[in-house]
Amino acid sequence: MGCKIIGWGKALPELVVTNDDLAKIVDTSDEWIVERTGIHARRISVNETTTDLASAAAEAALAKSGLAKEDIDLLICMTITPDAVVPSEACLVKMRLGLQNAIAFDLNAACSGCIYGLDVASSMIEASQGAGAGRRNPIKNALVVGVDRLSRITDWTDRATCVLFGDGAGAAVVSWDETAPGILSSFLHNTDDTALVLACDTIFDESTFPFGPTDGPVLVKEVAGLVEDGEEVALHPFIEMQGQAVYKFATSAMTEAAQMACERAGVSIDDVACIVPHQANERIIRYAAKKMHVPMERFQVSIGEVGNTSASSVLMALADAYDSGRINPGDKVLLAGFGGGLTYGSLLFVA
Ligand code: COA
Repeated sequence: MGCKIIGWGKALPELVVTNDDLAKIVDTSDEWIVERTGIHARRISVNETTTDLASAAAEAALAKSGLAKEDIDLLICMTITPDAVVPSEACLVKMRLGLQNAIAFDLNAACSGCIYGLDVASSMIEASQGAGAGRRNPIKNALVVGVDRLSRITDWTDRATCVLFGDGAGAAVVSWDETAPGILSSFLHNTDDTALVLACDTIFDESTFPFGPTDGPVLVKEVAGLVEDGEEVALHPFIEMQGQAVYKFATSAMTEAAQMACERAGVSIDDVACIVPHQANERIIRYAAKKMHVPMERFQVSIGEVGNTSASSVLMALADAYDSGRINPGDKVLLAGFGGGLTYGSLLFVA
């Protein structure tokens, strides 16, 4: 007995932005972007909100699961771009969909969101169904939704980052099943981002704050101790990234995460039918495949038309893998992701 993924879905904004479109905005080319990343196009939300995308993906996953709205006990939204601070994105989606019985909260693990969210949801289900039954909230069915609109925290004048990202949402329904082998293993890990290779400032409006003057906005570089006394740093509410450092972290994080999940489950990587990695860069996936001695055919690659969709990436790719028939009942499936924080992790389950 254990947790089973019984529904999946994804949602994308309407607007397609191709590499050639971006070449009109910044100094780049289709050739450079395709060669370095495998990305041809991405979807950008013009009028769709985070809640619109999350709700559409959640509804698709719910429909596939065959469950009714009242069956959902838990809703977790993984995002770094919620529509509001309060209510949380999960509360907004719960309201929109009318999930009367769900408890709802957000989780921020950046691009590792799908892995962290699925692990938290399945752990809460297992805890409430196992020895904890009667002592915990009874949770049988959970909806996990990864959603991001990185377009709103992207510096559209920075060619090194703006070509990489896209908007979207992915969702899955995780359910307790008395006959399912369940989640075989998971692995979550954080490594300190001491050099802030991936960062984005928050904006707080202090214009009515009566207890000042303050030192101004809290800047992540100051908090991380990367600024000398007296050094001027500007607020940067956009994703700032040191590409090569992130690339190095990503390739080793992905292979370590995949190995750890297999080791914990006592499963050989050769017995995994499908690997669904975070879709940050096709080159990172190819590098990891080579390092793991696994043929690319066993990796789900969905990045080409959507780019890096952050917290929704793995669940969107998982939906693609299910919908294209790559995942069959009984298959061992491995999810692996990495992201800002720095976070990384993996989850191994039987479909
Ligand atoms: N178009 C054209 N040229 C570009 C460019 C663009 N969009 N972006 C950067 N360049 C230039 C650079 O300015 C540099 O020029 P220079 O040699 O004259 O200085 C050159 O291309 C090489 O840049 P570099 O950063 O070394 O390229 P790269 O091969 O490392 O590829 C990334 C850049 C961002 C694609 C790659 O580092 C990467 O994928 N990193 C990981 C990103 C990631 O996964 N982020 C999300 C984590 S969740």
